[in-house]
Amino acid sequence: MEIKIYDNAEEIGKEVGSEFVKAVNAKPGIVLGLATGASPIPTYKYICEQYKNGLVSLENVKTFNLDEYVALPKNDKNSYYTFMHVQFFNNTDIKEENVHFLNGNADDVDEECRAYDKLIKNAGGIDIQLLGVGRNGHIGFNEPSNHFTKGSFKVKLTESTIEANSNILTKPHAALCAYHGRRFYYEREKIILIATGKAKADAVKALVDGEVSPACPASILQFHRDTVIYLDKDAASLL
Ligand code: GLP
Repeated sequence: MEIKIYDNAEEIGKEVGSEFVKAVNAKPGIVLGLATGASPIPTYKYICEQYKNGLVSLENVKTFNLDEYVALPKNDKNSYYTFMHVQFFNNTDIKEENVHFLNGNADDVDEECRAYDKLIKNAGGIDIQLLGVGRNGHIGFNEPSNHFTKGSFKVKLTESTIEANSNILTKPHAALCAYHGRRFYYEREKIILIATGKAKADAVKALVDGEVSPACPASILQFHRDTVIYLDKDAASLL
C-alpha cells in the first residue's frame, strides 16, 4: 500500500477529489464505491465544486454505497441515503437510477445482500472504492471478528461504533455492509482510504503495520495491490 501524508483534511479532499475528477473524465461511465462519515466530506465538496465549475460531469457515473443502517427509513435525516444526497449527489448531475444503496428495510436482508453483490458484479465491478476507517479498524460496518467476510451481510454494530456514530445514530444497532472482506477487496482495481485526526492513529498503525487479521478488518488492505492511504499528520502520528 502507498501512504500519503498531508497537513489537513482539506488538502486531502483536494487531492482525492482531483483523483476522482480525473478518473471520471477518463471514464465517464465509471463505477464508484462510496463511503459516508466525516472523512470523505472534503472530497465530495471538491468534486461538487468542480462540477459547478463545469470541469466534470457525473451524468453517466454509477455509485454503490458501502453500507446502510437496518430499519431506518430511507429518507430519515440520519440514513446514509440522505447523507450522500445532501453531501454529494444533490449537488451534481448524477442520475438517481445510477446511485445504489443496500436497503436496510428489505423484508429479507440476506436476499437484499445477495442482490446487491450481483448488481455490483453486473455493473462490471467497482473501479474505485473510497473508504474511511473506524477507530477499531472497521471498514464500512465490517466490525472486528474472527473471520474475513465474504459478500455483503448484516452486522450487529459494536458499542464503540455506536458511540462513534452517536451524533447521527438515533436507533439502529444493526447495518447492512458491502465490505466483502475476502472477495471484492482482492478484485477491486483501486482503493482510496482516508483517515484524519488523532482518534484514528491507533487504527492506522494497526492497518498499516499490524498483523493481517479480521480483528482489524482494514488490515486486509495490506494484501491489496492498489491501495493508497491518505492521512493527515495526526492520523499518521504513530507510524
Ligand atoms: C462509520 C461508517 C464507515 C466510516 C466510519 C468512519 O462507521 N459506516 O463507512 O468509514 O464510520 O467515519 P468517519 O470518517 O466519520 O470517521
